[in-house]
Amino acid sequence: MSDNKMNDNMNDNSAKHNNSVSLQYSARHVAIEVITNILLQQGSLSTQLARYQNEVASEHLPMLKELCFGVCRQYPKLNSIALHLLAHPFEEKDTDLYAALLLGLYQLTYMNTPDHAAVHETVEACRLLKKDWATKLMNAVLRRYQREVDEIEVALGSMPSVEYNQPKWLLKRFNKHWPEQLERIVDASNMHPPMCLRVNQSQVSRETYQILLKEQGIDSTAGTFSPSSLYLEKAVRVTELPHFGMGYVSVQDEAAQLSAHILAPKAGDKILDACAAPGGKTGHLLEVADGIRLTAVELEPWRMEKIESNLDRLGYSNDATLLCADASDLDAWWDGEHFDKILLDVPCTATGVIRRNPDIKINRKPADIDDLVVVQQAILDSVWTTLKPGGFMLYVTCSLMPEENEQQIQRFLARQNDAQEILLNTLAPELAIEWGTPVSHGRQLFPTLESHDGFYYCLLQKN
Ligand SMILES: C[S@@+](CC[C@H](N)C(=O)[O-])C[C@H]1O[C@@H](n2cnc3c(N)ncnc32)[C@H](O)[C@@H]1O
Repeated sequence: MSDNKMNDNMNDNSAKHNNSVSLQYSARHVAIEVITNILLQQGSLSTQLARYQNEVASEHLPMLKELCFGVCRQYPKLNSIALHLLAHPFEEKDTDLYAALLLGLYQLTYMNTPDHAAVHETVEACRLLKKDWATKLMNAVLRRYQREVDEIEVALGSMPSVEYNQPKWLLKRFNKHWPEQLERIVDASNMHPPMCLRVNQSQVSRETYQILLKEQGIDSTAGTFSPSSLYLEKAVRVTELPHFGMGYVSVQDEAAQLSAHILAPKAGDKILDACAAPGGKTGHLLEVADGIRLTAVELEPWRMEKIESNLDRLGYSNDATLLCADASDLDAWWDGEHFDKILLDVPCTATGVIRRNPDIKINRKPADIDDLVVVQQAILDSVWTTLKPGGFMLYVTCSLMPEENEQQIQRFLARQNDAQEILLNTLAPELAIEWGTPVSHGRQLFPTLESHDGFYYCLLQKN
């Protein structure tokens, strides 16, 4: 970390030419752009990082990620501190200065950057942004923070959004729906997520892969719920994972892995993966059973590539039909042949996976819930038409909002009199253990400190 920091001076000298191709900038400079765009609602952390990561030298990429993930993860707290320190909030056109301030505060509070370097580099950032007028202000604000940090902690610490480090509206929702689980949800949502692998059991058993890991000095523990899951003691780069390129493993949360095990594909099944990108569950379905006929539908053209590259690495390039379409627009993609099984992993608020997508703390708004509920309902109703009588549909979200989960299914069951719910842990023997919490329809998994993310599952059968 400190090497990165030393090398990562936020001044013009650190913006250097990568001899032949493009300019490479310091991680802090690029982090300002990424955070600015997120604050301006111009994309998610993952899309912004994908867009900007080539602008830093590869050895500075960990620093860029640390800064960007860190600011998003600590945003409710950092935002309160910044607003407390500023006599007037920055205007929208100066969002880049606000991003620089948040990054400066993050370094002062959470990183072992020497204080003088954090202040100096944040002040220099004003010049790089061609806003020299802000240098004095930035210097004064950060110096005041250094002087008054203890008083500020006390003054702001009793605000629930600061104490819990969650947006106020989201905290209220968590508290309203899950008062008993609130502390656990918040703690798990604020942490660095564990790295969980899905072992491709069509190539290697979980036990054998654990030995392969051990031989590389990587310690792991088998997950309790998904028979293909392994938790790493410490995150590593995927390139360090034995035979990653040959598809022996994928990185996937344990709760997400339950989808394929619940849907239990069998040879000959015609299966629809209705909202497929980046293809994590598409690949898993193919791993679980040979000889399935799989169709994967995804709305976003740019996300299709991710499904393709995932399947390619797993060796399944020719084993699924990939369609880029709106799953709710059947005329656009359905040929009229019914499916035996459907995996419907709908777009959702992702409130169960905040630790993996901490920009949710900045970007997500209460109105998103209502908007997403409408989208989910449209996909649910359309895709249901494509299911065979007797067929199964697994409805999945990574949300903790009942509106998207049990309430969505309640309304669906009221509309569709040919649909019935199947109790989930009565299925396969490996799923018979207690997992998740039964709710009025389906099962809710809450994110946990030790293991999986927050997910919701409901299995439906067509009469
Ligand atoms: C939760 S993600 C799916 C994750 C995926 N199943 C996996 O395991 O890797 C939801 C996906 O649905 C896509 N999507 C959103 N609206 C859609 C629609 N109307 N039709 C098809 N896909 C849609 C999004 O672009 C996103 O890729």
